[in-house]
Amino acid sequence: MSRTLARHVAPPEAGTVHVWDVELERTSAEISMLERLLPDAEVRRAARQPLEARRRDLVISGAALRSILASYLEADPIAVRFSIDEGGKPRLDAAWNPTPLSFNLSHSRGRALVAVTLEREVGIDVERLRRDLPIDRLASRFFSPREIAALRSTPEELRPAAFFACWTRKEAFVKATGAGIFRQSLQSFAVSVDPGPGPVPLVIPGHDAEAGRWSLESIAAPPGYAAAVAVEGPFRVRRFRWIA
Ligand SMILES: CC(C)(COP(=O)(O)OP(=O)(O)OC[C@H]1O[C@@H](n2cnc3c(N)ncnc32)[C@H](O)[C@@H]1OP(=O)(O)O)[C@@H](O)C(=O)NCCC(=O)NCCS
Repeated sequence: MSRTLARHVAPPEAGTVHVWDVELERTSAEISMLERLLPDAEVRRAARQPLEARRRDLVISGAALRSILASYLEADPIAVRFSIDEGGKPRLDAAWNPTPLSFNLSHSRGRALVAVTLEREVGIDVERLRRDLPIDRLASRFFSPREIAALRSTPEELRPAAFFACWTRKEAFVKATGAGIFRQSLQSFAVSVDPGPGPVPLVIPGHDAEAGRWSLESIAAPPGYAAAVAVEGPFRVRRFRWIA
């Protein structure tokens, strides 16, 4: 592994989202190597996590994010600068980002996805399909009435997949918008709970124009995971695998 990624990656074409798959299960030797791509503050942040798997996920996904963005910017990963907007969404520092690229990162128990696009907002979410979650209780708390009703009418054996399809779509949209109003009001918009891949409509009652600005799509995820991407305007996805 070298500190600077040798290969330059051309920025996504207009209307394209690059989605990078990142494997987070690594040996301790690899983790120590990848830690060197992170500034001290990020290493310390990971070290504060009580769970070892969470520490690993933060180190590897942080190193992968820096390395991926550096490959577009032709920079050293550790030198990439971020700023955080008022909704808490990380962005590339404007001085570093003439193109300009937008990105979003998601990690969940052993896997991460990084979405990169040009000049528009993007959000991505990946979730491990867990059997131990109280999905009916979580749906009652976070989902809209329309989604709750659709989930209840889904056959029981398909309900976990339907729950995670809905969850990842909602999270991807919230993360694309940078959170703000929709993070506080997850019940104020609805997506399909159908677990199939592909584009799904977004419904924001009373705000058709706002809903129409966004595209939302469930994308292929590794076995045992669900994933979705949300972008301003129509888009197509190109997949990449990050290799350290
Ligand atoms: C911030 C938030 C959107 C992150 O979602 P998450 O599923 O916990 O975590 P993910 O792995 O998908 O994303 C984490 C990454 O998103 C990015 N991120 C952080 N804040 C963000 C924000 N406000 N908007 C977009 N991206 C954000 C960061 O890169 C972060 O990486 P880090 O943890 O290594 O710093 C989430 O904490 C949140 O507030 N969700 C509210 C919605 C909710 O409660 N949904 C329930 C189910 S519908």
